[in-house]
Amino acid sequence: MDSVQLIDLPKVLDRRGNLSFFESNNQIPFKIKRTYWIYDVPGGEIRGSHAFKESCELIIALSGSFDVILNDGEVEKKYNLNRSYFGLYVPKMLWRRVENFSTNSLALIVSSISYDENDYIRDFDEFKMLRNEIKK
Ligand code: TYD
Repeated sequence: MDSVQLIDLPKVLDRRGNLSFFESNNQIPFKIKRTYWIYDVPGGEIRGSHAFKESCELIIALSGSFDVILNDGEVEKKYNLNRSYFGLYVPKMLWRRVENFSTNSLALIVSSISYDENDYIRDFDEFKMLRNEIKK
C-alpha cells in the first residue's frame, strides 16, 4: 500500500533500561515540523477517520497498544502497534483510523507540517474521489 513502512527504530539496550530514537530525514523519511500525542482514550473510542492532502506522519505506540487502519480508497490494512521501537510511516493521501486503544496507551505522532485544518480530508467519499483523480 503506497509507501507505508513499519520502521524498526534503533534500540540502545542497557541493563539500566532501553533507549530508542529517531531524527528528521535520518531514521524517518521526512523533516519533523510538529509532534503531538494522544492519551487518556476511553475504551472503544476511535480517533482519526480522515486523510491528509500533504502531510506525512510517523506513529509510535510509546506505551500500550492500538490499531492503525489505513485505506487507500480500495484496500484496507491494519497495523497493530504495541512496541515503542516501531514507527509506522504513513505517507500523505491515506485514510486512517486509530482504534482498539489499550488502557493507558500513549500514541506519539510526528508530522511533516504544522497544524493546518485545510490539510484534512474528513469526508471518505471526497477522499476516494481525490484518490481517483491522482490515478488518472
Ligand atoms: P484531529 O486531528 O481531528 O484528531 P484525531 O485525528 O486524533 O482524532 O484533531 C482533534 C482536534 O485537535 C481538532 O480540533 C484540531 C486539534 N489539533 C490541533 O489543534 N493541533 C494539532 O496538531 C492536532 C493534531 C489537532
